[in-house]
Amino acid sequence: MSDIPGGKRVLLIVGGGVAAYKALELTRLLRKAGIGVRPILTKAGAEFVTPLSLAALSEDKVYDDLFSLTDEAEMGHIQLSRSADLVVVAPATADLIAKAANGLAGDLASTTLLATDKPVLMAPAMNVRMWLHPAVQRNVATLKADGVSFVGPDEGAMACGEFGPGRLAEPPEIFAAIVKMLNAPAEEIFEAWPLAGKHALVTAGPTFEPIDPVRGITNRSSGRQGYAIAGALAKLGAKVTLVSGPVSLPTPPGVERIDVETAREMLAAAQAALPADVGVFVAAVADWRVDEVFGSKLKKDKGGPPALTFVENPDILATLAASGPNRPKLVVGFAAETDDVEAHARAKLARKGCDWIIANDVTEPGVMGGTENAVLLIAKDHTERWERASKDDVARSIAQRIAEAL
Ligand code: CTP
Repeated sequence: MSDIPGGKRVLLIVGGGVAAYKALELTRLLRKAGIGVRPILTKAGAEFVTPLSLAALSEDKVYDDLFSLTDEAEMGHIQLSRSADLVVVAPATADLIAKAANGLAGDLASTTLLATDKPVLMAPAMNVRMWLHPAVQRNVATLKADGVSFVGPDEGAMACGEFGPGRLAEPPEIFAAIVKMLNAPAEEIFEAWPLAGKHALVTAGPTFEPIDPVRGITNRSSGRQGYAIAGALAKLGAKVTLVSGPVSLPTPPGVERIDVETAREMLAAAQAALPADVGVFVAAVADWRVDEVFGSKLKKDKGGPPALTFVENPDILATLAASGPNRPKLVVGFAAETDDVEAHARAKLARKGCDWIIANDVTEPGVMGGTENAVLLIAKDHTERWERASKDDVARSIAQRIAEAL
């Protein structure tokens, strides 16, 4: 391990699983932040990543055999288990979790976990059924009671084709958990996160426009896509302000949420959040509100149905896209369409003055209020058609594209 004066070191145990490749990205992030990485590769892990790539990225020797006499002569496995400030297991397989929970020590990884006197962070990755199995949950509970920390697993589409919790947390998320546990200085994070130092504004959910104290007009929107995007941007290191209409969703980790009800409140909150490097306008804003809100409940027996007059709400996206020097560098709008998706969305791009439109066909089953989305990314000079994916995956792809663009 390269010596970092006063720097922090991590012993990274890489278990077997399709997600093991993400351990390479994690290693890169850690090294970029000046954190030392000494890898231990399990036998199963070596089926997925090569010792050579781990050695190259970590700039250290890869330990993979408990009984290698040369290793033992250079550094005993007990000493190895204590040679860092933190032990990280990523991916932590059901097997490694079970071994650690039960104190087994049949190989280098499990021996290290048993012999270490340092804090341990596990990033589990496995099939959703396996993760939800009582045996795994029991083992995780045991480890938590023993003081082991966990990051993830995330929910999403899995390599095995199933959907649910079990995906390895994204490398920036694991990195953030490591930095927190190491108490590493903030400048180090600054270097490694693709969106560190950037401010993202996201609008999400519906707006609610009151008619009287008990009634109102709203749009259909679960807020899921916007919340997922806010969460994905935060995971890449952005400071995220989420201006949200009324929804019943938890605030994603690391996101600052401002609750609003009406379109005018949403506009005011979005403007107050500027300056921002990127604005992502996902909210399903009610286009109209009643021009006069009744102060008391309208009664049925008082002269029949009320005659309501509507006035148009401000367009938040168009207003912020035209906000001169305060305009976010990248303005991303959404277009929920029911027909002629690309043509309508392209017209919207021009009309609202944004840089990208993410368009979807909301007549597709499972999109409105559901967990999946099939989108087009429409930029000024080209159109991309993305494969149907979970809203979380769409959010991750959008966040990644934003990071590249910024
Ligand atoms: N939007 C907004 N403020 C509004 C209306 C829409 O910020 N008052 C934003 C949405 O968040 C979305 C984009 O504009 O990013 C497109 O919204 P959409 O409802 O599809 O567009 P409309 O302007 O309502 O166009 P149309 O009714 O013609 O489809």
